[in-house]
Amino acid sequence: MITVVTYGTFDLFHIGHYRLLRRAKSLGDRLIVGVSTDEFNNKKGKETYQPFEERFRIVKSLPFVDIVIPEVSWEQKINDIKEYSVDIFVIGDDWRGKFDYLSIYCKVIYLPRTKGISSTILREKIRNSNKGSNIIGSFCI
Ligand code: CTP
Repeated sequence: MITVVTYGTFDLFHIGHYRLLRRAKSLGDRLIVGVSTDEFNNKKGKETYQPFEERFRIVKSLPFVDIVIPEVSWEQKINDIKEYSVDIFVIGDDWRGKFDYLSIYCKVIYLPRTKGISSTILREKIRNSNKGSNIIGSFCI
């Protein structure tokens, strides 16, 4: 059995996430996904729209995801790889080179990102549409 692992925040789950996870699963038999906790995101300086619980539940509901675990630190990857006997570590190519150090434990694969979509873009759109509604609101008043 080939076990694949990947990690991410998966805020405002979008088609780029879907494609990445589907391709990750196609590389093996079992897909484990680490979802970054809100505390870990704070450390990374990332503020999500959705809290951990929602992001975790959505990833868990996907038919090609077998196990979901919280990602709480940069360091846990090596432990996870050992604990779950991971064969392949997968992540989008925005991280190219950053996880090469894991190649002594398992195969490391960087998959091409889906172009034109990201959680950052979606958060920005929500922010702008909220600004718009505030303006309309204040005109109404
Ligand atoms: N990903 C992808 N294509 C995209 C966006 C993300 O393949 N268009 C991949 C990332 O490379 C990563 C995984 O999905 O392997 C989770 O990425 P995440 O950082 O949660 O998503 P982003 O949309 O990149 O989030 P942000 O804009 O907050 O950085």
